[in-house]
Amino acid sequence: MQSPIPDYLAETLGDIASDTSGALADYIPELAAADPERLGAAFAMVDGAVYGVGDVDTEFTIQSISKPFAYALALADRGFDAVLAKVGVEPSGEAFNELSLEGGTGRPLNPMINAGAITAHSLVGPEGIDATARLERVVDGLSAFAGRRLMFDDSVCASELEHAHRNLAIAHMLRSYNVITEDPATVVEGYTRQCSLLVTTLDLAVMAATLANHGVNPVSGERVVPEPVVRQVLSVMFSCGMYDAAGDWATQVGIPAKSGVAGGLIGALPGQIGIATFSPRLDVHGNSVRGVGLFGRFSSDMGLHVMEVPAASRAVVRSNHVVGEEPDAVRVIQLQGGIRFAGAERVIREVTDTAPAEHHVKLDLTMAYSIDDVARRMLLEIVRRLTLDGHEVSLIDPEGILAVPISSA
Ligand code: DON
Repeated sequence: MQSPIPDYLAETLGDIASDTSGALADYIPELAAADPERLGAAFAMVDGAVYGVGDVDTEFTIQSISKPFAYALALADRGFDAVLAKVGVEPSGEAFNELSLEGGTGRPLNPMINAGAITAHSLVGPEGIDATARLERVVDGLSAFAGRRLMFDDSVCASELEHAHRNLAIAHMLRSYNVITEDPATVVEGYTRQCSLLVTTLDLAVMAATLANHGVNPVSGERVVPEPVVRQVLSVMFSCGMYDAAGDWATQVGIPAKSGVAGGLIGALPGQIGIATFSPRLDVHGNSVRGVGLFGRFSSDMGLHVMEVPAASRAVVRSNHVVGEEPDAVRVIQLQGGIRFAGAERVIREVTDTAPAEHHVKLDLTMAYSIDDVARRMLLEIVRRLTLDGHEVSLIDPEGILAVPISSA
């Protein structure tokens, strides 16, 4: 049987293909030469399965989609405090190339606009690194996100550098506030080269899936950045990734995302999927018109809005029953699924409400597949309290998700 997923992708691309509104970015002359009809979409699941339909092997420059990844590298290399001292996390509500510096400090509002991205680029690698080594770190890092060696498009880079007056002006302002501490032209050159890295839609889907997979590339298996860095990056993508359209995007699509002026667009839904689309015509915000349309469809067709989550807690207690008869009766509470705070609270309530009369209480985690630290602490606390109340508590935990000795049932 053929998977219905590529069929779904093909059908959705077909529906969106007739939208020829928008325009190619022309402030970078080389981008105005792109084929405006190109259209592709790819899904990369967090277990490494990848689907792609349309022009998913066509290379184009990554542009602003490099920003969340370079920000991730800066956070990983310099630490949160050093990066946050230089770049904020507030949405600017303005265009990507606005100056948008915080009054007083001169800190760029966020790392998704050019001012913040130029600064984030300057923070990649250890302190004191030279521009060449820093760019190498950027290429190595972004390549690890993609799972293959990425190359530059020298002509797009040269074309942008010839007209980079605005980014140079931004960089000079940043230098005047000591937000960047090096020669502004050198930093802009490095940032522009970063933006000129060539990617395909498939690469972008895997890069997004690496964010969705808590920082581990699901195809190569490599841990690229630590988990707390990913949380920070996805949060900033959610509030700032689509520039002055970020609010519309957050409400209507609801997937942390980032666009680029060459027509790429990525979205990363934590724990589920990385999505990428490619279509070069842009709207007034600099976001791909057909990309925005495709993401709207994907989100509503597949229920991908981050605020739409199942009521996991209600289903955590699978059963609560007594096996055998006194004096050998055992109270068995069977748990299932993924257990987080609300699920653990449900278990606690089940135990306290039941107030088991039986001496022996068995907590069966056979059907539970994951538990986070908070829920683990809560369950261990309920075990401790039951024990203090005089119960004999045993755990059936074949996968060791509570990370305590497995009961022999
Ligand atoms: O700095 C610039 O203007 C470009 N290299 C990148 C801008 C961009 O991709 C904006 N996103 N939609």
